[in-house]
Amino acid sequence: MDFNAVISERSKRIQPSAIRRFFDIAATMDDVISLGIGEPDFDTPEPIVQAGIAALQHGATHYTSNAGLIELRRAIAEHMDRLYGQTYNPASEILVTVGVSEALYLTMAALLDPGDEIIIPEPCFVSYQPIAHMVNAKMVTVPTTAEDGFQVTPEAIEAAITERTKVLFVASPNNPTGTVLSRERLNEIAAVAKKHNLIVISDEIYDRLVYGVEHTCFASLPGMYQRTVVLQGFSKAYAMTGWRIGYVVAPAELIYPMHKIHQSLIMCAPTASQLAALKALEVGEPYVQEMHAEYNRRRKLIVGGLNDLGLNCVEPRGAFYAFPCVHSTGMDDNDFAELLLQEERVAAIPGRAFGPSGMGHVRMSYATSYEKIEIALERIAAFVQRHKQA
Ligand SMILES: Cc1ncc(COP(=O)(O)O)c(C=O)c1O
Repeated sequence: MDFNAVISERSKRIQPSAIRRFFDIAATMDDVISLGIGEPDFDTPEPIVQAGIAALQHGATHYTSNAGLIELRRAIAEHMDRLYGQTYNPASEILVTVGVSEALYLTMAALLDPGDEIIIPEPCFVSYQPIAHMVNAKMVTVPTTAEDGFQVTPEAIEAAITERTKVLFVASPNNPTGTVLSRERLNEIAAVAKKHNLIVISDEIYDRLVYGVEHTCFASLPGMYQRTVVLQGFSKAYAMTGWRIGYVVAPAELIYPMHKIHQSLIMCAPTASQLAALKALEVGEPYVQEMHAEYNRRRKLIVGGLNDLGLNCVEPRGAFYAFPCVHSTGMDDNDFAELLLQEERVAAIPGRAFGPSGMGHVRMSYATSYEKIEIALERIAAFVQRHKQA
């Protein structure tokens, strides 16, 4: 069988994740400290786990309504109102998804026709491009730089707009840079979206993980509710990656086409996980705060430590990643990450995995214990010292 002949051109265009390659190498080695991970090292808080177990024991083993349990959608509506003063109708403006991952696909599939353009600032999360490929949309990237704190400018966005531009993608806090866009900057970006009549997809999965700055929900900016699709989820703030629950909030007219795709693709998000997510909204806040405080402690440790070694970091104000520049070592990001893994057993991700403007940087996650970060910093110090001398 000529498998190459039967595989779609669409799937051939999708590049395998560069992140996975590093995990695969690290998995063959002993005593590796992984700063490569993109998920909380914390287990899901106990009351949430218990709610999931109880749900299964009490018969929550069936489908729910396609859009998700109405109790969960009501709780999400209250949550959005409490945090951002933004009102959504649980019956028509909220869709519970299999993580933000599914929500990304739904929004792009519902909004973009083949050849339509979506503007995405980079460096960015690795799934955006493959999903844009899947729906045959054209992803137009807008580079950002460390000099500008990886803050995308309204001018750069405007320069990328063409007749085919339909959607603008915003991701604040950002993975991999940790950049949080200020309300002022977001307002400027909103003005561009309005001027060019663009829909905004705002990936706000890290909204609860901001340090010393406020998170602004894009839909809450003046005039933006109508043209914004907010993507949210439980994976990061509640340490619930494996439960696979996210959600989309948007005007009913935009939720409807996503709902139809979701209905055929997924049917509904896992039922027991939805009940666990409901519990997370009911009792999860102290746990969110506790994990947040610990991430912040680790953030200070890793950012301070890397800067002291000459691996300059733009201070990450959100998510759980540092994104240091490795130029001072004379290595590019690929060599740095590969040699650091081989020689010192510390896994980090080359910045180019997140787009060309990530070159020269590596992503180091601090979603690992304080003690492990301390050891990792010692190993990185030895590595930098040795390569300086060479
Ligand atoms: C920026 C961003 N968006 C979306 C996701 C997908 O998250 P999930 O599907 O677990 O909700 C991730 C996961 O790492 C992410 O970093």
